[in-house]
Amino acid sequence: MEGKLLDYKKIKEDFPILLSSMNGKPLVFLDSAASSQKPRRVIEAFEDYYRCRNANIHRGAYRLSYEATDLYDRTRARLAKFLGASDPETVIFTRNTTESLNLVAYSWAMNNLNPGDEILLSELEHHSNLVPWMMAARKTGAIIKHIPLTDDARYDLDRLPEVLSERTRIVSVAHMSNAVGTIHNLKAIGAAARSVGALFVVDGAQGACHKPVNVEDMDCDFYAISAHKMLGPTGVGALYGKRAILEDMEPFLGGGDMILTVSSDSFRPAPLPMKFEAGTPNIAGVVAFAVALDYLSQVGLENIHNHEVALVKYGLEELQRIPGIRLFGSHDLEHRGGVISFLLDGVHPHDIGSILDEEGVAVRAGHHCCEPFMKKEGISGTVRASFYLYNGPEDVDALVRALQKVRSIFKAPVKERN
Ligand code: ALA
Repeated sequence: MEGKLLDYKKIKEDFPILLSSMNGKPLVFLDSAASSQKPRRVIEAFEDYYRCRNANIHRGAYRLSYEATDLYDRTRARLAKFLGASDPETVIFTRNTTESLNLVAYSWAMNNLNPGDEILLSELEHHSNLVPWMMAARKTGAIIKHIPLTDDARYDLDRLPEVLSERTRIVSVAHMSNAVGTIHNLKAIGAAARSVGALFVVDGAQGACHKPVNVEDMDCDFYAISAHKMLGPTGVGALYGKRAILEDMEPFLGGGDMILTVSSDSFRPAPLPMKFEAGTPNIAGVVAFAVALDYLSQVGLENIHNHEVALVKYGLEELQRIPGIRLFGSHDLEHRGGVISFLLDGVHPHDIGSILDEEGVAVRAGHHCCEPFMKKEGISGTVRASFYLYNGPEDVDALVRALQKVRSIFKAPVKERN
């Protein structure tokens, strides 16, 4: 196969779970878009934290607590560097991308939108980049609009003027579609948002894990991520935001750590970033996330992206040979990340998923939290194979073999295709 592959066999050895089996077959893990696997050193960092370093942060008057605080704060600085944010205080730890986007919807949108204001999204967004805005729209009387899509699931930039107006206050889009793998043209969308003075929000759940990101070059107002899609633990996410906007916003959650002072009937919020980090955070998860970031940086995000594109190219070529296959998304690899979404004529995606499972191949089947897109396509869902730095062409071959089995079990009818 063509394209620049990583030394994925060596990388795979770092991931204990990938050396295991599923249903008596070697595990072929093709569901990293849902959650990535974790390298040994991340698992060890998590355990080491609880074994040797556990104490609450920003509170204790003792060495263990100072050290835990230092580890936590150093991860913030590490993550800021990873995202290209020059000011670590503009990076807020949350639970995940969903919470990060909710933070913006609750703290900014619900306090700043007026009836008739417009929020520009697309029907390809993940529910977490749809529902929080719908909730804000319900509360404020704002209106949801969608960027039209091309037939190959890209934002139709030529048609942006149809939906962008002086009333647009927020434009919130995914860096990469979790459902079909489109990598979007954020430069163009960001410029359009700025041209009408709207906030530019990026759902980076499938972005920063696969490609180099620089939020300052991107000039986005907010960028949201989840650690568990980036080799890190579940329950940790982050939100980058521009300082002036974050400082102007109301706090999201109230409680300990997010205050400067509290009187019997009032409070003053703490400065950034603590203003948005109420309560004891997932300290162990944050500390282990730093190790995941180091791992990704060592391999190199550009190398990871090239590896995934090479796998997608190979995957599309191989899958195309299967009679009755319907592939979603762009075939132009310029706009494509490590996801292949497909259907097999005459077989329900969940049946495909179950047979692949028996063959040791882990994929996601269903609407991928993108119901509006599936409805638009007139389908209930797809089967999705998603790649990461530890996958290789053998995994694509295993998927193809398992799909041949699906075809033979269902004796899948083949529709004429042109
Ligand atoms: N957002 C995750 C996915 O795409 C859960 O599967």
